[in-house]
Amino acid sequence: MLQISFSTHTQPTAGALAILVPEGDAQSAAFQAFDAATHGALGRAAKAEGFKGKDGTSCVVLAPSDSFERIVLVGIGKADDVDAWAAEKAGGLAASLLARAPKAALAVGALSGVLAAHVALGAVLGAYHFGLYQTEDKDDKKRALAELSVLSAHSAEAQEVWPSLLAVARGVVLTRDLVSEPANVLTPVEFAERATTLRAHGVEVEVLDRAAMTALGFGALLGVAQGSANEPRTVVMRWNGGKEGDAPIAFIGKGVTFDSGGISIKPAAGMEDMKWDMAGAATVTGLMASLALRKAAVNAVGVVGLVENMVSGTAQRPGDVVRSASGQTIEVLNTDAEGRLVLADVLWYARDRFAPRLMVDLATLTGAIIVGLGHEYAGLFSNDDALAVGLADAGAFTGEKLWRMPLGKEYDALLKSDIADMQNISGGRAGGSITAAQFLKRFVGETAWAHLDIAGVAWASKAKNGQPKGATGFGVRLLDRFVRNGFEQG
Ligand code: BES
Ligand code: MN
Ligand code: ZN
Repeated sequence: MLQISFSTHTQPTAGALAILVPEGDAQSAAFQAFDAATHGALGRAAKAEGFKGKDGTSCVVLAPSDSFERIVLVGIGKADDVDAWAAEKAGGLAASLLARAPKAALAVGALSGVLAAHVALGAVLGAYHFGLYQTEDKDDKKRALAELSVLSAHSAEAQEVWPSLLAVARGVVLTRDLVSEPANVLTPVEFAERATTLRAHGVEVEVLDRAAMTALGFGALLGVAQGSANEPRTVVMRWNGGKEGDAPIAFIGKGVTFDSGGISIKPAAGMEDMKWDMAGAATVTGLMASLALRKAAVNAVGVVGLVENMVSGTAQRPGDVVRSASGQTIEVLNTDAEGRLVLADVLWYARDRFAPRLMVDLATLTGAIIVGLGHEYAGLFSNDDALAVGLADAGAFTGEKLWRMPLGKEYDALLKSDIADMQNISGGRAGGSITAAQFLKRFVGETAWAHLDIAGVAWASKAKNGQPKGATGFGVRLLDRFVRNGFEQG
């Protein structure tokens, strides 16, 4: 991970440097100082490039003086509009443009210390690369950046808030690492094994194996798992940072380590994407790590259902009927609608065992949510307006945006089965994400609950917002903020 340090506005005279430049008529003081030091090279380059400091724009100036090898101008938009998310985007862009230098500096100008720390968070995440399997990384030189010194007039304040944001960065990195791993490595057993490393941070971790899940009556989850040679697991992670006896808030994740579709098999093209069908579980795991690392004053529990959905002689068939932990029976008309089967049991279990004050589940649940919302917003479904607002606000703050979708009994009626309590698909393509959410709702009882369908946002096929392509870690920053906003006061 990129090493961050903060220092009070010293002016480096050599090396690699990024300068955050606000949009507007007056050039920033930092820009002016460095422009003078480079005999006007920055001003000339900005003019030639038409760079005005707009959010998301940049201008790379190579060797502007004898001693500077590279100065990168990064726009942060109008000074008054700079918020945490804008700061993180700019930090990410700066880090990605400085990537060739092993050590670099980043001048944040007049930003507050808190925003300077968010710039640093964006930079750490923007420098992320999953390189575990590149034995000879030909792009090594392009990803040399190891130390970044953030130059801020408010470095003391930045320094003070940084440890708690570094905790979030480490959670996001854990989530991205899990999501990036191929399915031959990250089986349910291996995922559970990695979750146990959270014990080192003070998280209580319990691993339920097949026998334990059989005893609990997890017929829906186990039906999905039965076609795979890899054993299923459920992992329970508990962080008790709040008052003893306070009901926890619960986070539940879909952890399908590979989704072939089962007997209702998926088409070959793009099936490799289904290695990241465990992103919901990875986000819950990264979030629990973040909460523990920053010693959040909250009681939180994370429950993830880990299975592989495969095709074999033991695989479940379309038409099979399974009995879920709740006692409700399900006719499995499509074995590719497996995420909801896994969640049915873990949602019920989380509610039954922990009586949480609220539950939030995350799942790469439907292709239909991508049709509806593309890759910008995750779908938000909830039976509780206050919870939905709290989540949407945290999403707007962090840039991990949520769009609320409806629930209703008309949709629920589409799940009626001829031979069981419900069927696992509605039978048509219409409202596919809603009927999936409606299915989950049958397993949460009266508990305040929200479901985040992250199928469109868990993975980026292109670099975006200063962040690399691949696993995004969507949801860790959002839910960390949700916890900070509403659940850590007293
Ligand atoms: N894991 C998929 C959803 C998905 C699709 C995630 C694309 C990420 C990218 C899920 O298990 C699935 O297969 N859903 C089906 C449901 C259908 C059979 C009702 C779908 O969306 O097609
Ligand atoms: Mn599926
Ligand atoms: Zn799936």
